[in-house]
Amino acid sequence: NSEMEKDILKVLVTEEELKTRIAELGEALYKRYEGHRPLFLGVLKGSFIFMADLMRASQLMCDVEFIAVSSYQNGTVSSGRVQITHDLQQDITGREIVIVEDILDSGNTLAFLKSYLMAKGAKSISIVTLLDKPSRREKAVEADLSGFVVPDEFVVGYGLDYAQLYRNLPYIGVLKPAVYENT
Ligand code: PRP
Ligand code: MN
Ligand code: MG
Repeated sequence: NSEMEKDILKVLVTEEELKTRIAELGEALYKRYEGHRPLFLGVLKGSFIFMADLMRASQLMCDVEFIAVSSYQNGTVSSGRVQITHDLQQDITGREIVIVEDILDSGNTLAFLKSYLMAKGAKSISIVTLLDKPSRREKAVEADLSGFVVPDEFVVGYGLDYAQLYRNLPYIGVLKPAVYENT
């Protein structure tokens, strides 16, 4: 048991389940974008591991780009104020964008990004999220593709953090409440 694993209450999605579902998501993206050249846009930091696996699973001719936003400021509740901490490094006018997210929670991040990207001249936007937590939605935003619906528990791993830790767990786990109650 690693230092990280001692803080995990239970495993919610195993490595094997991630692999199988991401292969399905990649196939769905291939069917939709075959013959096109979509721009996969990862939302840092949470999406970086999912991005690496999803774009390989898709087998598409595609570009990759990242944008970094933050609304949690190290806490466990979305502040609702989304800040861009690293902006797009290319013109996206006329591009077909595939937003790649680790989790859709309140919807504040993706609601902001959708309007931001449309304002930048994107031709189309689809949202792929690994996890969807619909019970916490504040903004009317839905994913076009989602990997797993998760309950309202504090999930970490496979890119998802608590206070910047646990992103490198190879599975999705639920954090022991004691870990965030003591901070
Ligand atoms: C988390 C997560 C999503 C967003 C989802 O990012 O990775 O991007 O919050 O929450 P929402 O639907 O309530 O907006 P966070 O702001 O923690 O930054 P990070 O990706 O760097 O961890
Ligand atoms: Mn994020
Ligand atoms: Mg975070």
